[in-house]
Amino acid sequence: MSEFRLTQISDTHLARSRPTLIANFEAVAEHIDATRPDLVLNSGDVAFDGPNSRSDLEFAKSMHAALPVDCRYLPGNHDIGDNPTAVGTPPTEPATEENCDAFRATVGEDRWCFEAAGWRFIGLNSLIMNTGLDGEAEQFDWLASQLGNVNGEPVALFLHKPLFLNLPDDAELAETAIRYIPQPARARLIEMLSALDWRLVGSGHVHQRRDFTFGRVRHIWAPSVGFMIPDHMQDVIGIKETGIVEYRFRPDSFEVRHVRAEGQVDISLDALLAEMAAD
Ligand SMILES: [Fe+2]
Ligand SMILES: [Fe+2]
Repeated sequence: MSEFRLTQISDTHLARSRPTLIANFEAVAEHIDATRPDLVLNSGDVAFDGPNSRSDLEFAKSMHAALPVDCRYLPGNHDIGDNPTAVGTPPTEPATEENCDAFRATVGEDRWCFEAAGWRFIGLNSLIMNTGLDGEAEQFDWLASQLGNVNGEPVALFLHKPLFLNLPDDAELAETAIRYIPQPARARLIEMLSALDWRLVGSGHVHQRRDFTFGRVRHIWAPSVGFMIPDHMQDVIGIKETGIVEYRFRPDSFEVRHVRAEGQVDISLDALLAEMAAD
């Protein structure tokens, strides 16, 4: 395969009881049907409330299973719980091995590695990082063995959380540490990837679209398929809108297109919370 087309969707937050989020997903599903990429990746927060509702995970999976192309997934904090940071208050809903098991059983693998168009694609469970759970060490061991098999191909990494705001060694702040890959896992991950021809990291989680390059690595933040977080709850870093990201990989090169599916609507979390309160 000399070309590989990947569509990254993220933060779909799907539940049977959330029709506005379903409508945005359906707009994206029509776009996917029309464009037929080789793979759809949902980079996490697939479900509305995975840790407390297995049926949200099941419903989200059923929506993806109806797409006419193959899908891969990564877990988000709303799928399996969140990870602790060195500086912030502990998450009210921490990631657990049980939640990871539920995600794998219901949605799909929470980490993966594959080759296409002369590239090596790696997806990691970012919520297990910094938890001290057995799964964290196991994933780093697995990553080391996978990276040992890379034969000089360029590497694309995907995670739910972005690696950092602007710099790899940005200080972690109590209010925002939960937004990025926590230390010390972040430094370890960057060191492991930097030994290779690492060119891209794609993430979700922030519900803002962003595209910047640091050193040799392009950082793509996919917006949410479903909704944006208003300014009174979250600072503006990139672009607050709903949308998706399309990638086209060829041996030794790639292109990124920042796209909105026709019919996708910018829904604010304020509107979503009002809708939920009225239920
Ligand atoms: Fe999200
Ligand atoms: Fe998230």
